[in-house]
Amino acid sequence: ANDGAEAAKRRAGESAADRVEGGEVVGLGTGSTAAHAIRALGRAVDAGLDVRGIPTSHQSRALAREVGIPLTTLAEATPDVAIDGADQAAPLGPQPDSGSTAPEAGAPAVSAFGAAGGTALVKGGGAAHAREKVVDTAADRLLVVVDRSKLAATLDHPVPVEVLPEAAPTVRDRLGGLGGEPTLRAAERKDGPVVTDNGNLVLDCAFGDVTAPDRLARDLEGVPGAVAHGLFVDLVDELHVGTADGVAVHDY
Ligand code: A5P
Repeated sequence: ANDGAEAAKRRAGESAADRVEGGEVVGLGTGSTAAHAIRALGRAVDAGLDVRGIPTSHQSRALAREVGIPLTTLAEATPDVAIDGADQAAPLGPQPDSGSTAPEAGAPAVSAFGAAGGTALVKGGGAAHAREKVVDTAADRLLVVVDRSKLAATLDHPVPVEVLPEAAPTVRDRLGGLGGEPTLRAAERKDGPVVTDNGNLVLDCAFGDVTAPDRLARDLEGVPGAVAHGLFVDLVDELHVGTADGVAVHDY
């Protein structure tokens, strides 16, 4: 089953990488699914494609170097396109009242994402969402790559909030006031918290069902000391969903 999930991620990543054209500047997202797109772009560069990448993390920069993608920065170029993963994706707006069956329990049918209204994401599982949001928003087109396990009818994944270390106590209180339950993200391989590429901490904040992601996003943007939150509302132009036997692409 794990092999199947990895193959679905790879198909999604390769499908998005295929949409990149010669001469373009590409935002390089973070995570295992975006990594498949970066590797596919590296192969395309080997075969002669002329692109430059703007990484969103130390991780994506290191991988891009390894596979030979020439790099640039936001100071020198504007991304034409960005390819990024997500921890969860849910359709925005009215959903079709169809009888279509979702093969995976709890997941909405892939077709629900074809409805008008766009998509909302939770990102930041890799603690890279601050730079991801800057690069993904700067890009003319955002291509998001996921497998079916990321799809939900309503966002309920805890929302990562990157915070200035000094502000962690006050941000924690404010998040509680917004109805959230924040938890300081702990490092896995050392004692202590995760420190982001920007030297900040991450509070993973559970809100239950996020039925109005745009409103929660605005509320989170009003918290002093919160550098960036992981809600990406209506930014997606193409959602590439890797499945057991192919890729479903939804354009917005
Ligand atoms: C990084 O901070 C996140 O926004 C990633 O895009 C997200 O965690 C997806 O990673 P996977 O593709 O490994 O699930």
